[in-house]
Order: sequence, then structure tokens, then C-alpha cells
Amino acid sequence: MKQFTSIIDVSDLNQLVESAVYFKNDPLVEPDLGKGKTLGLIFFNPSLRTRLSTQKAALNLGLSCMVMNFVSEGWQLETEEGVIMSGEKAEHIVEAAGVIGQYCDILGIRAFASFTDQEKDYKEEVLNSFIKYSKIPVVSLESATLHPLQSLADLVTIEEYKKKEKPKVVLSWAPHPRILPQSVANSFAQWMRQANVDLVITHPPGYELNTKFTKGAKIIYDQEKAFEQANFIYVKNWSSYEPYGQLLSQDPGWKITASKMGLTNNAYFMHCLPVRRNVIVDDEVLDGEASLVIPQAANRVYAAQAVLKSLLTTNF
Ligand code: CP
Repeated sequence: MKQFTSIIDVSDLNQLVESAVYFKNDPLVEPDLGKGKTLGLIFFNPSLRTRLSTQKAALNLGLSCMVMNFVSEGWQLETEEGVIMSGEKAEHIVEAAGVIGQYCDILGIRAFASFTDQEKDYKEEVLNSFIKYSKIPVVSLESATLHPLQSLADLVTIEEYKKKEKPKVVLSWAPHPRILPQSVANSFAQWMRQANVDLVITHPPGYELNTKFTKGAKIIYDQEKAFEQANFIYVKNWSSYEPYGQLLSQDPGWKITASKMGLTNNAYFMHCLPVRRNVIVDDEVLDGEASLVIPQAANRVYAAQAVLKSLLTTNF
């Protein structure tokens, strides 16, 4: 694998999942694979899981790791080409990425959607500039439109807990007081379409995701109907794609409750975290036996290890 920005970069999905399981069985099985190499992790947005799990994965593989919160620690970054830099922005992404590429062997980037320009966000301007100018393999730590490290961990978790060959997996929108990106939902839909699952997406009208990621998935606007016979309920809020980045509904009727979970086939509850208790999901569900949120987050380490191994063995 040359880079890891979406499922399109993955040539053999089963092999990547098997690699994550291999590291889960023994996280220190290849302690020197990354010896002498440096992983740089650049964050333009907050993170708990992605930051710590990717650092842990690097440590397990013997990679050195450097982390930078770019917004609080770096210069204000210009991304426009041909601009006269007479304002507040002191550094251009061309030099910033080029320099980081000199210090690191692999680069992870987290850069969420700006919500100011749908076209720019969906062109992945920041991520693609780092790929272009750093000239080293890049891992998405969640971009404007996708979160592939999360999706790989989600798939590993579903493979681990599934009780039938082809489980019914429901991606459900739930309410949230703020405008959130579409990246986790886009990415989950994209990965589940490639996995051996029966994918159903449920959300209020107006929350349709970009069909580039959901094409072929069944969309059911009635949440309770969608939950029938489900084996996994994967919950996430996202803002609307059209019109872009809007909060169209905060309907509490879409919150995940124990009675809704009771409509499923003893489904597991999944969420990428962080989650707002009693807004997205009731405590009773989140703290219940069917909640996979902690093992799901644990799998982020092994997913990252599998991705880093693939990058190390392909590129060096
Ligand atoms: N799920 C996830 O990516 O968590 P963080 O935003 O805390 O990294």
C-alpha cells in the first residue's frame, strides 16, 4: 500500500483485516519493523483515540513518532496557490509539507472539513497538498470526507463479534447539537459496501450522504423499521450534505434507546466516540452488555498497526 487515504488504497481488504487480527493476537510480534523510521502525526483538529492509538501502533512496530498540534503550535497555514501572503498566514502548505517530508518517513494528517466550501472539502485540498508536497507515504487520520483508520477498526470489530456469515449492519443517524462532519458515515458506508454485510442506512429525510459513498446501500427513513433483525447498530451524527454542512434536525426521537435496541436481533451497539450521552444514545445502551464502544476503540491500535506495516513493507 503506497498511502492510506480511503478503501481505494487497499488492494486486499481481507488481508488487511487479517493483519489487524494478527497484531491483536500479539501486538509486539514485529517490534523492529519500523526501526530507524519516523512517523509524523500532524493534527489540525482535536483527537483522543486516533492520536493515542496511532502512537501506540507506531511504538509496537519500533517506529519513532513525532506529534504536532498544528493549530496551536504551527504557523498559520496558507493553502491557496499564487496568493500574495500579506495577511496573517505566515507559512505556505508547499513549504510546510515539504519540510515535514524531510523529517519523517511516513506522515499522518488529520484535517476535517472546513464547511465553508463543499467543493474544496470534497476535493480534500489539505490532505492532497500534504501528499503532493511531502513526497512521503501519507495516512489519513480523518480527512474532510473520510476516516479510513476508524472504518478498518470498525470492520475488524464486526468480523470479531458477528454471529452469522453476512450480518445486517445498520448505520443510523442520531441527533447532535453541533454541525459534525460526514467523514465517519461516508467512510463506514464505503467500507461496509466492500465487506460481506447487509448494509442499511437510516436517517431523517435531508441527511442523504454523497452517493459516491453510499451507492447500492439500502436507505430506510423509518429508523424502527430499519432496526428490525439488525445484528449491529452503528450510530453517528452527521450534518447534511445538500445543503452542505447544515443542522436540519435535532429530533430527539432519533436517539438510540433500549426499546429501539429491543427491535433488533440482539444487535451490538457501535459508535466511533466521542459520544454525547443521552443525546445520541441513552446511558442504558452505552453502558449495557451489547455496547462495543470500548473494544471498538481498542481495535484502533491494531488497525493502525496493519496499515503502518503495509506502508513500511511497500515503500521501504
Ligand atoms: N473516533 C475517533 O477518531 O476519535 P478521536 O476523534 O478522539 O481521534
